[in-house]
Amino acid sequence: MNWDKDILNKIEFDNISNLEEKKKLGETIAIKVEDGQVIGFGSGSTSYMATIAIADRVKAEGLNIIAIPTSYEIKMLCTYLGIKTASLTECKPDWSFDGADEVNNNKWLIKGRGGAMFKEKLNIANSPITYILIDKTKKVSNLGEKFKVPVECVLESINYVKQELTKLGGRDITLRKAVGKDGPIITENSNVILDVKFENIEEKLEKQIKSIPGVVESGLFIGYNVEILEC
Ligand code: A5P
Repeated sequence: MNWDKDILNKIEFDNISNLEEKKKLGETIAIKVEDGQVIGFGSGSTSYMATIAIADRVKAEGLNIIAIPTSYEIKMLCTYLGIKTASLTECKPDWSFDGADEVNNNKWLIKGRGGAMFKEKLNIANSPITYILIDKTKKVSNLGEKFKVPVECVLESINYVKQELTKLGGRDITLRKAVGKDGPIITENSNVILDVKFENIEEKLEKQIKSIPGVVESGLFIGYNVEILEC
């Protein structure tokens, strides 16, 4: 017996910016899908549009693929659209796709506006190649010029983590608030997020942040195997 899956469709994105560009990026990535592949699915509105484009091909051509989703949002969308999902403990991606908040000329990224950077980084690290889909607003000369760096950490650690982030040059550190719930955002790993302004992001910063006790992951992605697809 099958469920009526209507409730799953209630997670759609409202007011997606640069919608036409994101649709085109979705179509570009959907063309790369081959029958039998395991594909890492990123999160955010660009990945949302890519998931819809891939589902259209899966349905039209009867393709058999497995998605490794990086958030509840994308996992639910895949289930709603009829794309099978699995986790990294079950299979390894042939390739992945994702969006980004900022990309510089070295292909360094800031991600995590949607709080999904923990699983996004796992997918990227586990994939031979990840296509980063960006519209024209995402390219920057100085990483950090528009977005703060999100740092997921264990609740008990926030005072210490804040102190250590400040030593690394972090400023204007804020605890991310939830929408639709009082208090802080609680991530899918039951942690909180500190958003941190860095004026000058050097190559070693990602590892320095990760080495602070209490930090689970950051939204800095430096030196990963990524290919930037621009629209
Ligand atoms: C999710 O946590 C993020 O890393 C997104 O991939 C990133 O914020 C890009 O999102 P958009 O595609 O909505 O701009």
